[in-house]
Amino acid sequence: MKLITCGLPYANGKAHIGHLRTYIPADIYVKYLRMLGEDIIFVCGSDSHGTPIVVNAEQANLTPKQLVDIYHKHFQEIFEKLDINFDFYGRTDERYHHQTTQEIVKKLIEKGYVYPKEIELAYCPRCERFLPDRYVEGICPYCGEIARGDECDQGCGRHLEPGEILEAKCKICGSKAVYKKQKHYFFKLTEFKEFLEDYLGSLEGTENALNYARQWVKTELKDWCITRNLEWGVNFPDENLVVYVWVDAPIGYISFTKKACEKLGKDWRKIWLKNGEIIHFIGLDIVYHHCIFWPAMLKGAEYNLPKAVVASGMVKVEGKTFSKSRGYVVWVEEDYLKAGLNTDYLRYYLINYTSHQRDLNFSWEIFKDKVNNELIATLGNFMYRVLHFAWKNFKEVRMDVDKEVINKIQEIRNKIVDSLNDWEFKVASDAFMELASFGNLYFQNAKPWELIKQDKDECEKIISSCLQLVKALIIFGYPILPKTMEKMGKIIGIDVENAKVDDALKIDAKIILNKPKVPFEKVEDEKIKELEEYLELFMKLKSIVEKEGVLDEI
Ligand code: 2FM
Ligand code: ZN
Repeated sequence: MKLITCGLPYANGKAHIGHLRTYIPADIYVKYLRMLGEDIIFVCGSDSHGTPIVVNAEQANLTPKQLVDIYHKHFQEIFEKLDINFDFYGRTDERYHHQTTQEIVKKLIEKGYVYPKEIELAYCPRCERFLPDRYVEGICPYCGEIARGDECDQGCGRHLEPGEILEAKCKICGSKAVYKKQKHYFFKLTEFKEFLEDYLGSLEGTENALNYARQWVKTELKDWCITRNLEWGVNFPDENLVVYVWVDAPIGYISFTKKACEKLGKDWRKIWLKNGEIIHFIGLDIVYHHCIFWPAMLKGAEYNLPKAVVASGMVKVEGKTFSKSRGYVVWVEEDYLKAGLNTDYLRYYLINYTSHQRDLNFSWEIFKDKVNNELIATLGNFMYRVLHFAWKNFKEVRMDVDKEVINKIQEIRNKIVDSLNDWEFKVASDAFMELASFGNLYFQNAKPWELIKQDKDECEKIISSCLQLVKALIIFGYPILPKTMEKMGKIIGIDVENAKVDDALKIDAKIILNKPKVPFEKVEDEKIKELEEYLELFMKLKSIVEKEGVLDEI
């Protein structure tokens, strides 16, 4: 049994393409593995705790729970619309998750991995409270960039321990923070250095994640403060503190696996306590948490360890570094779905633009080209030409497939499987498109429109080979373009949702056709212009707001 997880989105704002950059490839990977016959559980959920939630709730005048309710529902709806099908999508403020977290924290305490220590914490004299994590802003002591209390989000990406940030200011009122002593609890991360060095040597996944982690573990490890002064979160045993959100969030992978297994009649222990394979899909900004903190915690609490960490590169919008506050962002609902665009187009763009590990640039112009010149001109053209021709001239086709065509399908199948094993999802999608190009050439060279007049039997043979290619495209394309391929599957009578990859090589006695439909609609220039203008306007608006000194989301 394999578990695939996606990093839990904070339920503190709407979904944007930065999120989808991780979730769509993960979903495509899961769909392929299932079609290859693997037993998979796929989970994710809302990250409901920590200052990302509490600060935004405070600014919106809502309770943290109210805020989480809103965005949890939002994310669920977005995933459904984009055909990202988790077996379970949970939230970390549920009782079941608190229980699992407390069990693990207690285990770490019992095993002697947690100790108390008095530390100096940033405190706002004006707001009269401690300033954990995102309540404080200052300068990163490592790279000098502006940073948040617990992470250098705009600079070197390091995790920062409480008290480390320089020139700390209260994020709410802007006052200079003072430092006050308080007792907190630490996890003995330093004891895991050797274990981590070993573990990271054999951890699988993308090089971008592994390189970062191997570097970090060599240079520095500090014990890790795992408690916070907040009211919202999982209670730390016996004290008026909650556990740090980065302790409980990844434990969500375990508690959501339990829930998914309850639903599916499977045993979660096989994954987390025995030797099931665990694969985490994450964004590049949270490698430290997944490759350092998380395996150390799992090891300490005697759980199974992740087999692979797959990190997606960052996202740019129209060539500019993604930034919500500057307006370089594409919101899934407002910008994409409201424009009435086919969700398969976005899935294709995000998988096919570049390698999973590289930075992805989202540009409306490139989007239009990819849809019109690749999906429509290559894939859609071939599928529709064949289906239309077959329907018009035969209605049902005796299958007698050319060996060359079967070999090509086999070659593409192998390319797809190999590239999935290398986490090279673009290569898989390119291989799929290569099959469509092959189909176009095959059709073009065989000239069935002439053959039909001279030798109908020979023509039927050619069309049967083309239909086999269409069938393979429907099957190989389903993980990437589920809506389209479901629709196209119905035309030749395949239930692609339940098909297996190797069905692409099986030859039926005949194929009976239903009236074909075009696979895709063109993306019009005017629509793209509208979207570009809207984005520009949004950026301008943001820059005005920024100049006026209001930096937060509007
Ligand atoms: O960075 C984030 O958006 C976090 N909410 C990711 C958590 S992933 C996991 F550890 F739960
Ligand atoms: Zn830094």
